[in-house]
Amino acid sequence: MNPLAICLLAGITWATVPAWASGESTYKAVCASCHGQAFPKAPQLGNKAQWAPLIREGQVTLTAHGYVGVRGMPAKGGQADLTLEAFAEALNHMVNQSG
Ligand code: HEC
Repeated sequence: MNPLAICLLAGITWATVPAWASGESTYKAVCASCHGQAFPKAPQLGNKAQWAPLIREGQVTLTAHGYVGVRGMPAKGGQADLTLEAFAEALNHMVNQSG
């Protein structure tokens, strides 16, 4: 794991994402263009088979990987000013629809 990811992990706890936070609006604004429209390799909203191995990584690891970017996934979903909280909520929304 790279040092940036470790720094991020220190800032993420389950409490970062309140249970009621759907993150739906951020998902629609930032993530849906790839995660809802069959962008190559992007795990799709609602596709349990694609999300299962990612969910197994755990919320903290998965959030950190996505936020810093991994392979085809751009850091912060490509929106440079997206906060970690907003990113985590959007991811939470996708996972809730896909697990
Ligand atoms: C430009 C397209 C694009 C956008 C926008 C985008 N993603 Fe992704 N995302 C991808 C692709 C492609 C992958 C698959 C990466 C791979 O395995 O090559 C991915 C993978 C992921 C993963 C899995 C990372 C892992 O550990 O394998 C997470 C989590 C994720 N995205 C979250 C998000 C969230 C949350 C948003 C919105 C804030 C978002 N993405 C916006 C393209 C995108």
